[in-house]
Amino acid sequence: MYVPEIDFLTFDDLPDVLRLNAKSSCSWPEKVIRADLRKDSNNEITYLGAFATTAEAPLLGYAVLGREKREGLLMALFVDDLYRRRGIGRQLVSAVGDCATYLHFRRLRLKVRKSNAGAIALYTQMSFIGEKVRRGYYSNGEDAVIMSARLPLRAGALR
Ligand SMILES: CC(C)(COP(=O)(O)OP(=O)(O)OC[C@H]1O[C@@H](n2cnc3c(N)ncnc32)[C@H](O)[C@@H]1OP(=O)(O)O)[C@@H](O)C(=O)NCCC(=O)NCCS
Repeated sequence: MYVPEIDFLTFDDLPDVLRLNAKSSCSWPEKVIRADLRKDSNNEITYLGAFATTAEAPLLGYAVLGREKREGLLMALFVDDLYRRRGIGRQLVSAVGDCATYLHFRRLRLKVRKSNAGAIALYTQMSFIGEKVRRGYYSNGEDAVIMSARLPLRAGALR
């Protein structure tokens, strides 16, 4: 397991977030990320980053927490493909869970592509359960699985 430094992302981290976002198969428009990370942004969206513990501290992954009605929404989770399967995704989800608990959300919800077996396995380990399937949710017609977990995320979810 690799233990990164997990911290809130700020506008200074924009180039690193954009670098990782560009690697993602479901990248977000730059203007959305730019607006989210602006210091005066009050849109209740929180970006958390996993940093390497070396001097240059490059960003290895990030997660985005938003709100949907009265619940936390895990809007994005991405780990650099060079650093996968080292527990970074799990640690980011755990940090998002802590943040959502601090914000007094009772549940954390997310949508994931039905074909994304790796992410579904990760979320299941972190105590998320599949609630329902939203047919044809993604632009290519793929179904989304909606998963949610009670907060705080189960202790012991981190190994
Ligand atoms: C999904 C993703 C965030 C996982 O990040 P990661 O840092 O590799 O995940 P972890 O190392 O914390 O994995 C935790 C567990 O999840 C499961 N898992 C993660 N990736 C997996 C994969 N590709 N295949 C099967 N199981 C996987 C495993 O059980 C893993 O534990 P193990 O390595 O001890 O077997 C990463 O693959 C990613 O960024 N993918 C592209 C973006 C994406 O799909 N995001 C989710 C959208 S909802």
